Amino acid sequence: MPASLYDFPPIFRAVHMEEPHEIADEVAFLKKVWKRHLKRPVRRVLDVACGDSPHGQLLAREGIEVVGVDRSAVMIAAGRAKSHDVNGIRFYRRDIESFTIPARDRDAAFCMSETFPVLIENASLIAHLKSVARVLRPGGLYCVDIDRHDGVRVRERQLWRSRRVRVATIEVDVREFRRPMPWYAGGWVYEINCAIRFPDRVLHTRDLIPVRYTLPTHLELAAKASGVFELIDCYTDLSFNTPLAKCYRRWLGVMQRS
Ligand SMILES: C[S@@+](CC[C@H](N)C(=O)[O-])C[C@H]1O[C@@H](n2cnc3c(N)ncnc32)[C@H](O)[C@@H]1O
Repeated sequence: MPASLYDFPPIFRAVHMEEPHEIADEVAFLKKVWKRHLKRPVRRVLDVACGDSPHGQLLAREGIEVVGVDRSAVMIAAGRAKSHDVNGIRFYRRDIESFTIPARDRDAAFCMSETFPVLIENASLIAHLKSVARVLRPGGLYCVDIDRHDGVRVRERQLWRSRRVRVATIEVDVREFRRPMPWYAGGWVYEINCAIRFPDRVLHTRDLIPVRYTLPTHLELAAKASGVFELIDCYTDLSFNTPLAKCYRRWLGVMQRS
């Protein structure tokens, strides 16, 4: 079985990062959203599907208390190693579909890097929203960023993008595919294959990630159906002014806990 890119956190980061400043830009925008929609300062947050929690690392260094949940032991270990010199960041190994953690009373939660759409089943989506709500204070915000999902009609496996990325001295050849799911599943499978050229060997990784076709209207419905959230706004490409129609890459859904 090919290895997983998630077992190589620094390479994963370089492969997925389109711009070196993008995590800092996202954190800056999240803070603007919190300021706009919350009357109180944000002191405690939850990072959902945190990986090594690049967003949490920045926030914790500003004095915000962060808890992260992720199912990958390797990613969590990388997060702990990165934050060895910071207080106030904790990780829990959990499946985001349904989880409980000791932390409560978070002012805000976020799920970044287009991870929310892995929740393919309606039951998982609702269980997930209820799990996040349990950790938030009433009125707390849950922000999820989602790619612009253009078309759901994937009829056969298609090459989507390919590129070469350099991580220090290591070159990585990346090929991303879209693979069909049954039409009624309302999504597709994102396949990412990498050839990681270490000095002494080439290692191949393959990851298959389900993606639920997710639009703002779907998020509005899911939030309502959960009975614990309401979708209060959607923002486009880290801007308060760009209309959804002009969305180039991603939109941020902002839900508020009842
Ligand atoms: C694209 S990464 C995003 C990591 C981080 N939020 C970031 O912005 O860099 C997706 C993360 O979601 C985690 N993940 C995917 N599905 C999950 C699930 N069902 N339960 C828990 N974690 C999951 C993976 O282990 C991975 O660390």
